[in-house]
Amino acid sequence: MDNIVILTGAGISAESGVPTFRGPDGLWEGHRVEDVATPEAFDRDPVLVQRFYDARRAALATVAPNAAHRALARLDAAWPGDLLIVTQNVDDLHERGGAKRLLHMHGELRRALCTGCGAAPAWDGDLSGDPPCPRCRQPRLRPDIVWFGEMPYHMDAIEAAIAGCDLFVSIGTSGAVYPAANFVRWAEASGAATLELNLEPSAGTPLFDSARHGPASLLVPALVAELLAG
Ligand code: OAD
Repeated sequence: MDNIVILTGAGISAESGVPTFRGPDGLWEGHRVEDVATPEAFDRDPVLVQRFYDARRAALATVAPNAAHRALARLDAAWPGDLLIVTQNVDDLHERGGAKRLLHMHGELRRALCTGCGAAPAWDGDLSGDPPCPRCRQPRLRPDIVWFGEMPYHMDAIEAAIAGCDLFVSIGTSGAVYPAANFVRWAEASGAATLELNLEPSAGTPLFDSARHGPASLLVPALVAELLAG
């Protein structure tokens, strides 16, 4: 077992108090995620969309990494082979937990994207009120979030890592959003062992070689201890 790819979703941050997308508390002020997470929604009602992401960005200050984020950071630091954590999450809990080999495939709350000049500055305040881009000074910043219908980030690096991995682990994701939901198929095609860790069986569970169900704060530290013990 040399090379590991780990895909994480909203479930790994749930015990930190970040709401999941499709859980019972997965609505924000009654909006479905599809109603605020599309370029069309932003064109139609930019104030609503900016407020949605401003609220989520501000909420990051009230949450902290949990035992699952910290365990993955321990694995990252100690694992001698290739390792890549690919997160669908736009929170910053993996990096605050200490992970280094990490890619955000759906963007980051703490970054803005200028629709004028393409700059992607670090951003911790609100985007409501149309502040100017630090590079081109135009008031054309949006959240640096990959919306439905847009291309996820880092796909070449992710495909290469999955093609070369021996173990693929999916943690806390419902398997409802593509292309991430297909990663288990790519991993299987490359001959990797595949393991799902999720609170409950997901849409993708039958695609995995094995699955463990329970809270990430228990399952992830246990898996990391097993992997590091060899
Ligand atoms: P979902 O909300 O669809 O799924 C979260 C999964 O985590 C569910 O299967 C839950 O059962 C599981 N879960 C909840 N609590 C857990 C816990 N304590 N431990 C382990 N698992 C737990 O979230 P994602 O699959 O991440 O995209 O959603 C994928 C994408 O859909 C998101 O990245 C977002 C959204 O639209 C964009 O914003 C582009």
